Amino acid sequence: MRTSGIDRVGPGGALLLLFLVGACSQLDDGGVTSVTLPPSYAVSAQAETLVPADAFLAGIYDRSCRSCHAYVDSGAPLAGHAAEWQRRLAPGLNVLVEHTRTGVGSMPAMGMCLDCEDAAFEELILFMATAGGDAAEAE
Ligand code: HEC
Repeated sequence: MRTSGIDRVGPGGALLLLFLVGACSQLDDGGVTSVTLPPSYAVSAQAETLVPADAFLAGIYDRSCRSCHAYVDSGAPLAGHAAEWQRRLAPGLNVLVEHTRTGVGSMPAMGMCLDCEDAAFEELILFMATAGGDAAEAE
């Protein structure tokens, strides 16, 4: 007599593990891409309202970065989602500036600001990483 059922547990678990490992890619320069940590409702609601205080940066942000980085459905790390930015900033700010210039994953090169300088990218990244502390802390 054979016992049935025992073999059934394995494959599903293995597939799930493969999916989780495969979903996060490690870039050559140490950066990570894809799979944003799911933001809380407070963080995603707040992201739609955040704009840099500086008028020059606010102008750039409004016509480029904001169209994705304020909306969770875009797959972009949200402005004010501190935990996600902390993870992405691990290899260094310069790596993120480089990724903004070249494009990464589904983000187009230059984040759709073709005349932007690296200095503006730095400021915009730091803005997105640090803006809106309250909602991020409540997470
Ligand atoms: C058309 C949508 C879109 C626009 C516009 C956009 N981004 Fe992004 N951005 C994304 C998406 C999607 C990701 C996530 C890419 C991934 O990790 O696969 C991303 C990721 C990033 C990252 C993280 C890169 C990394 O290596 O982890 C930075 C930094 C960034 N964007 C900066 C900017 C800046 C600055 C602007 C405005 C000048 C901008 N983005 C405009 C969609 C956009």
